Amino acid sequence: MVAIVERSQLEPKRLPLITNYPSFRKWNKAALDEKLQDDPMCIYVHIPFCTQRCSFCYYKTVDLKERPEVDGYVDSLCKEIEMGVDRFDIGNRPIHAVYFGGGTPSLLKEHHFVKIIETLRNKFKHFESRNQLSVEAEPLTVSKSKMETLAKLGVTRLSMGVQSFNDKIIKLSGRGHDEKQAYRAIDIAQKAGNGQWTINIDLLSGLAGETPETWAESLECALNTGVESITVYKMEAFANTEVYKLGVREETIELPDDEQEIEFMRYAMERFERANYIPWSFFTYTKNGSDESKYISSIWRGMDFYGFGVSAFGSLGDGLLQNTSDLEKYNEIVNQGELPLARGYRFNGLDLIVREVLMGMKLLTLDLKGFKKRHGFKLQTLCGSTLKELADEGFITISEQEVALTSKGILFGDFVGQTLANAIEKAYR
Ligand SMILES: C[S@@+](CC[C@H](N)C(=O)[O-])C[C@H]1O[C@@H](n2cnc3c(N)ncnc32)[C@H](O)[C@@H]1O
Ligand code: SF4
Repeated sequence: MVAIVERSQLEPKRLPLITNYPSFRKWNKAALDEKLQDDPMCIYVHIPFCTQRCSFCYYKTVDLKERPEVDGYVDSLCKEIEMGVDRFDIGNRPIHAVYFGGGTPSLLKEHHFVKIIETLRNKFKHFESRNQLSVEAEPLTVSKSKMETLAKLGVTRLSMGVQSFNDKIIKLSGRGHDEKQAYRAIDIAQKAGNGQWTINIDLLSGLAGETPETWAESLECALNTGVESITVYKMEAFANTEVYKLGVREETIELPDDEQEIEFMRYAMERFERANYIPWSFFTYTKNGSDESKYISSIWRGMDFYGFGVSAFGSLGDGLLQNTSDLEKYNEIVNQGELPLARGYRFNGLDLIVREVLMGMKLLTLDLKGFKKRHGFKLQTLCGSTLKELADEGFITISEQEVALTSKGILFGDFVGQTLANAIEKAYR
């Protein structure tokens, strides 16, 4: 290794030629073995269709009422999988987790699932040894036969959008199901899964019409189903939603304010804790810590993943890549035998550190020793005073080993991660 000495201490003289860094003394067999192994990765499959357009939803989705070509899309998706695996030479990599997201993947017909999973199985040599296969679902698209097919195909986690168990609030949000149908779908899924899969349900806090009473009732209903996992997202009124138009621009519907929303979240945290639902991220709570989305936690920890489907994105090595978001273009490009990639991003050193801290804090703890090992210096050298301030204000605790969100830190979501990210970026400037 080259010793760092002050410029003033350097006697100008001709040194032996430096051929590499660090010096050979530091190289070892364990590092070679690690390098020779293929890194595990995750797979994401995007299904952009929905049976409705929910008033709060910010995703770019296609309503089935517009009669999109679902069969054609599934064909394109399978072609893209075949081309993408070859182009990026990822067919031999160990597969950690697979995630079907949307939109609403559960509206696909059984033969669609069979075809996509067969294609994945054929192209990824280690598809069978994955740890988890997740599918997002919506209550009205759940049937006994479809759930049985998914179970047979090896699905191990089902994530169902419910949002609320109060009929009035569900209706206001433009969803097609009611409370009874949500229960029914969960019951069908629980029976068909027969212990093979865990079920997560999504709730939204801050929906139009929500009161402390309706919120408390919804949480009880969710807990009564006995599902392994409950996710509570803060409803964000994005500019492309009906909720934004009516609630923010025209003010014809009333949305809970920020303070009320925080109270909903605080109540949920306390209630979940009493029911022994333990958080693994700041919005997902699992029964006795029994379930975690291995896909989400791994990609937040920086594992590679490839996204197949319209608008899907992935992260491979030192960069991000994303497909076109235009459905027609997607089909057209794939059918011409090309990958539908539209844009990418190449990380620099700072990006990698910021990503690690920002996304890592979503998982409640950040491994300080791991950080030092990866980067060669302590996180504290970049944002020591901000860490101390956050600890003094009760958002985090800091030990030799890790930074951990407190209950207050969990309640404020991305606040800690974003504050640390800002401090790190400032330190680099
Ligand atoms: C892609 S959807 C999958 C579930 C399925 N499409 C459904 O709605 O039943 C994933 C989740 O995103 C969440 N979501 C949608 N719009 C949101 C918003 N404006 N703010 C926060 N979360 C939102 C909902 O909780 C939804 O269940
Ligand atoms: S919340 Fe789910 S069902 Fe509703 S529009 Fe968004 S993705 Fe589709």
